[in-house]
Amino acid sequence: MVNVHTFAKRKQENRKISMVTCYDFWSAKIINKSDLDCILVGDSLAVVMHGYDSTVHATLSMMEMHVASVVRGAPDKFVIADLPFLSCSKGIDRALDAVQALIQAGASAVKIEGSSHQIDVIKRIVEAGVPVMGHIGLTPQSIHNLGGHLVQGKEVSEAKKLIDDAILLEQAGCFGVVLECIPNKLGASISKRVKVPTIGIGAGLHTDGQVLVLHDMIGVDPAFSPKFLRKYANTNELITQALDKFHDDVTSECFPAPLESYE
Ligand code: KIV
Repeated sequence: MVNVHTFAKRKQENRKISMVTCYDFWSAKIINKSDLDCILVGDSLAVVMHGYDSTVHATLSMMEMHVASVVRGAPDKFVIADLPFLSCSKGIDRALDAVQALIQAGASAVKIEGSSHQIDVIKRIVEAGVPVMGHIGLTPQSIHNLGGHLVQGKEVSEAKKLIDDAILLEQAGCFGVVLECIPNKLGASISKRVKVPTIGIGAGLHTDGQVLVLHDMIGVDPAFSPKFLRKYANTNELITQALDKFHDDVTSECFPAPLESYE
């Protein structure tokens, strides 16, 4: 079973780490049966599960509820929970309260977006005994500051800053770092420069692991097709077909059959 020490070990052994997001009990039950290494209860749940237009709408109580459902469904998986928007920007005590809520909901680790401005809080959380994963590159909680979902680190100065940020996160005690939407080459150089594993999403092949949003990789939204996404299933079509078939069966009185009815 994966635990926090598995991450460093995997990097030493040059074995990649697989991670998907998950927000609910049933998906968690399916993931629990799979070979996947770990689960992220991402704040993307605000968009995917609640229909908001950005992750800034995820609240701590939403995160706690989804973490608890996922942990009930996937008791054998290592579950990382996102610290929601601004939960680490209002003082260390409030950040530690948020961490406490997520860990008591059942998470094994937390993930924090950003670097330099989060270093003190990351150190305190790590000192408190909670594993922390960093997240740099495209950080959706800062979407208004970034000006949209744009690839980060294309300019040399930006790339250097991201390398420095990853080193700072490692020094602060992070056990891993998510790299989101950065050029392939930068993903490779950051992964070489730090000893902790990097988990990429839109960061090329050379990160130490990969993460995708579950609903994206199983094709729930046919309109969402960013370049980095590979769709492993077309559940939108599958579910639509099932619903239409049920509707046909009801309206043509084919359902329920005698075997599906009580005597
Ligand atoms: O919230 C999320 O889904 C994430 C991943 C995209 C890494 O942070």
